[in-house]
Amino acid sequence: MEYFDLINKRYSVRAYKPEPIEEVKLQAVLEAARLAPTAANRQPFQLIVIHTSGREADLQRIYRRDWFTQAPLIICACGVPRLSWVRDDQRRYLDVDVAIVMDHLILAATTLGLGTCWIAAFNSRAAREVLSLPEDIEPLLFTPLGYPADQAGPKERKSVSELVRYEKW
Ligand SMILES: Cc1cc2nc3c(=O)[nH]c(=O)nc-3n(C[C@H](O)[C@H](O)[C@H](O)COP(=O)(O)O)c2cc1C
Repeated sequence: MEYFDLINKRYSVRAYKPEPIEEVKLQAVLEAARLAPTAANRQPFQLIVIHTSGREADLQRIYRRDWFTQAPLIICACGVPRLSWVRDDQRRYLDVDVAIVMDHLILAATTLGLGTCWIAAFNSRAAREVLSLPEDIEPLLFTPLGYPADQAGPKERKSVSELVRYEKW
């Protein structure tokens, strides 16, 4: 898929079909995440692949929306703070790194006809408990991964002139 078609086609999918995802597609999506650039190439992340079948009640504690557990898989993108790059003013780039990883994963999924939705508004404590996360791993983002059962709405975005300033020379 051409890049501009791809970024137009991606949307937050909030209804999923239960049908399984082909293993080759899952592996392709994970490979896209692996290839993401990270600050100083530290790769301070871990991805957790979660099968939803039979786990719905536990997973709903993490994010209480019916559609969260409709897809066969959920991916949790975690940061590993001790591995992340820190600028000399102490600014840590962990969140930026994990966001890039997630974007690679999500755009690859879109290319393959799979739906996703960035989720940050989850219950972090429930995520730690349900996924048995060690202390030094931070859950930052979730997405369901499955075939969409809804359709994209209109893209509501600010205009380029609101978002971009050209520096005067
Ligand atoms: C970092 C981030 C966190 C988000 N968290 C949530 C969330 O917790 N729940 C949700 O339904 N959508 C969430 N979204 C989706 C946004 O609401 C959505 O991307 C935005 O409204 C634009 O719509 P679109 O993705 O369909 O283009 C999140 C998006 C981003 C980038």
